[in-house]
Amino acid sequence: MQSLNHQFDLIRQSATVAMGDRIMALKARGKHIIGLQMGDPDFATPPAILDVALDAMKQGLTHYGPSRGFPDLRTAVAKKLSRDEGVTYDPEKEILITHGGIHAYYTAMQAILNPGDDVLIPDPSWATHSNMATMLRGNVIRIPAPAENGFIPHFDSWLKALTPKTKIIVLNYPSNPTGAYPAREYLQQLQDFAAKNNLWIVSDEVYGSLYYEGKPACAADFAGAKNRTILVNSLSKSYAMTGWRVGFLAAPARVIENALKAGQNSITCVAPFIQKSAAFALTDPKIQEATASMRTVYSRRRDLVLRIASEGKKGNLRVIPPKGAFYFFLDFSAFNMTSAEICERILEESGVGLVPGSAFGRRGEGFIRMSIAASDEDVEAGFRKIVAWAENVNR
Ligand SMILES: Cc1ncc(COP(=O)(O)O)c(C=O)c1O
Repeated sequence: MQSLNHQFDLIRQSATVAMGDRIMALKARGKHIIGLQMGDPDFATPPAILDVALDAMKQGLTHYGPSRGFPDLRTAVAKKLSRDEGVTYDPEKEILITHGGIHAYYTAMQAILNPGDDVLIPDPSWATHSNMATMLRGNVIRIPAPAENGFIPHFDSWLKALTPKTKIIVLNYPSNPTGAYPAREYLQQLQDFAAKNNLWIVSDEVYGSLYYEGKPACAADFAGAKNRTILVNSLSKSYAMTGWRVGFLAAPARVIENALKAGQNSITCVAPFIQKSAAFALTDPKIQEATASMRTVYSRRRDLVLRIASEGKKGNLRVIPPKGAFYFFLDFSAFNMTSAEICERILEESGVGLVPGSAFGRRGEGFIRMSIAASDEDVEAGFRKIVAWAENVNR
């Protein structure tokens, strides 16, 4: 038999997708399930964004488009970055339009990673960050991000991981799955560390606009940081556009040149009518209002969960308030079960879909990710069921 690419032996199937499949199978058998496993906003994409795509299609924008992205979209991205983050990028040379945040990350890593380079990634974190680095033959080193430290790595953990092969630090703040983000001073320290050791910082900021405490700093918004920082972002989470598959990379021109080649040779271009909608979404004032009200709803749901958590006893379940994104990383470490077992039992016994923390790294074990990107009713009913399960389970 012909051999396959061995790198894929090192990668597990996505636990979120596996859980989604399990839930679909249970639903097909007539079981009522409350799905709190997905990282997909329950809001519809604002209708005005749809109209722009439709008009563009009618005008004939249904053929190949520019691989780098239309100039008006790249300009819209530069304006967004300056408006929301205070960072300045040249839309001609320093922005690339990608097929969502995941493809922005892919092109970024293709652009800078050589086989055998060390890539430092906090643990827990979104599985794609480490899977992609592994696929590209990077050497992934996980940096513990302990709950006791607000899911932020102790700074000396970065220092301890440093070797002559260290090349890239991957950050994702606010974090999926923990919602954590560090103080500005911490990012300044990391930038100094990266500068001293000639490292890249790849910063996935797809949840950058979803925060409930002070605004998280953009990784590029530090003196001298732009030369070593690569911003990954998308419209998926903040504009409720996950299915549109549009995102962007903001980086030094030499990185964009490589990333452009990676994009051209993997997807050719983002569909032109989608690019037109994205440019509209990023700049239209009414759309910014619509996305701000989505944030208000997430914040209300977060408060709802915290209120329920504060009522009465909840067994040994510990609820840590997330600072951003739309997930709770519930602490079940006092239960004598793996997070996969707990998810399976809550699904079977209480009908709530969740994701085991172990899907996000070894240090996610003992935790369960619960999404609040679901209706208020589902969040309330689902979380009450989880609390009841935790109170009554035979331990
Ligand atoms: C941290 C993080 N980055 C990127 C993505 C992917 O975003 P997109 O849909 O824009 O590809 C996700 C999706 O869950 C995510 O959680």
